[in-house]
Amino acid sequence: MPGGQSRSGPHGQGERSGARRDLNFKRPSIARVYDYVLGGRENFDIDRRAAHSFLNVIPEAGQLAKDNRLFVRRGVRFLVGEAGIKQIIDVGSGLPTAGNVHEIAHAIDPTVRVVYVDNDPMVLTHARAMLDENETSTVITADLRAPETIFDDPETRKLVDMEQPFAVLISAILHHLSDEEDPFGAVAEFRGRLSPGSHLLVSHFLDEDPRCRDLERGFMDGLGSGRFRTWDENRSFFEGLEMVEPGLVYLNRWRPDEDTPRDHPVEKLFVGGIGRKV
Ligand SMILES: C[S@@+](CC[C@H](N)C(=O)[O-])C[C@H]1O[C@@H](n2cnc3c(N)ncnc32)[C@H](O)[C@@H]1O
Repeated sequence: MPGGQSRSGPHGQGERSGARRDLNFKRPSIARVYDYVLGGRENFDIDRRAAHSFLNVIPEAGQLAKDNRLFVRRGVRFLVGEAGIKQIIDVGSGLPTAGNVHEIAHAIDPTVRVVYVDNDPMVLTHARAMLDENETSTVITADLRAPETIFDDPETRKLVDMEQPFAVLISAILHHLSDEEDPFGAVAEFRGRLSPGSHLLVSHFLDEDPRCRDLERGFMDGLGSGRFRTWDENRSFFEGLEMVEPGLVYLNRWRPDEDTPRDHPVEKLFVGGIGRKV
């Protein structure tokens, strides 16, 4: 079980940035719950309680977050190292953690430009601190449900040339949108913006494992979001794109490294893939 340190209270860098008034510590936040499950320190009691409402259902569920980060790592390595992508928009990027997207990309090509996007202002303050003096990467506060605000943001426009190939990462976030919030429509808008040679990476909970409904209830009780969707629903995120091998698969089956965990008890709860705009 990850052990987040208790923080004395909500007195973070937000106060210095002016974003403090927008931070919400009365409710759990997806970014902080995820941070806790990954073993981070940027979380509070309310987040840890929310995490345990699904960890109590399947204690191994914490492994899903770790598998997802490793999937993102392999995906970014592919995008930069094999597909030659030089600009990345990471939507729902989360709090800084071990192996951030710009670090993975820059280990291969230091000129890659990265725009981090999240609707949680705490991500903005922490990512800004991380990116201090980094001219190839930036962070903006915007919402996945309004893709135009991401593409039209001056920071995005400064770093990403939409005429050239770029990659959009939408990882471990769409399952936090209800059907009413139309994750399918939002992703279709992102797909519509991709220039030829651009790529879309998506990871999302899968409803194949019969335990997923109990886990979903745990997520809904603790966090108010967390939907497990079918293979077909997950495939539809990539409509019209050419799938990069091996297609949409359980996360750990996507181009595994030698040490990628395999065949563990929660493997079938999470899928991911990368599609290419031809
Ligand atoms: C589970 S974390 C995933 C972080 C990272 N993408 C990864 O795969 O490791 C989901 C992130 O999406 C953000 N998020 C949730 N809903 C969002 C929305 N509608 N627009 C933008 N970001 C959102 C949360 O604040 C959180 O930081």
